[in-house]
Amino acid sequence: VGTGKFFVGGNWKCNGTKESITKLVSDLNSAKLESDVDVVVAPPFVYLDLVKNSLTHRIDISSQNSWVGKGGAFTGEISVEQLKDIGAKWVILGHSERRHVIGEDDQFIGKKAAYALSEGLGVIACIGELLEEREAGKTFDVCYKQLKAFADAVPSWDNIVIAYEPVWAIGTGKVATPQQAQEVHVAVRDWLKNNVSAEVASKTRIIYGGSVNGGNSAELAKQEDIDGFLVGGASLKGPEFATIVNSVT
Ligand code: G3P
Repeated sequence: VGTGKFFVGGNWKCNGTKESITKLVSDLNSAKLESDVDVVVAPPFVYLDLVKNSLTHRIDISSQNSWVGKGGAFTGEISVEQLKDIGAKWVILGHSERRHVIGEDDQFIGKKAAYALSEGLGVIACIGELLEEREAGKTFDVCYKQLKAFADAVPSWDNIVIAYEPVWAIGTGKVATPQQAQEVHVAVRDWLKNNVSAEVASKTRIIYGGSVNGGNSAELAKQEDIDGFLVGGASLKGPEFATIVNSVT
């Protein structure tokens, strides 16, 4: 069982326009959000500053990616220093879309995590198996391998939230059952206990991502080892995102 505060992140991915994002922020501003939940939103880079400056709730800002080291001659990249400069507190790393669509590997992701942490950003470290890996009975092995890459690279787990996102559940409307999610979250916590420390295992928040919505979040939130959510599609609708935030009892 995790001991940290419930954590709900909204990953807006590569969605939105100035108009739709202004509307989303205004919907979030007028929503009632529980005060004892950590809420974070991850807008596309170009809107980070706009969102940061127009949110009135205490919602932290996350980036969806960051460069692996200090900024400089890296065309198209955004540095951790720049993210900190505009007030971002978190970065999502290891998301399946970056692993499987863009081709980032475990080592590169581990290096990014280590650099972001060294500069004081929190890391939302994503792991999760493909459908064929689940069907081949390799879910735990895949998650352990991805976890190990983070563990080998980072000096401390103080500022890391782990997001378990089974790839087959992302953007598919096919949510993991509460039992399927709980089973993997327990395995992740056991892995941390056996390979990092009992303290890290109990303190680290393990959140679930993959087709979470306003209708299924309450049931998922009841699971002992689900410490929050990373929400994609449903985080683009302010009232529904608020329902998810408030679904922890
Ligand atoms: O990072 C969140 C995520 O990948 C889940 O997306 O649209 O299935 O909620 P979605």
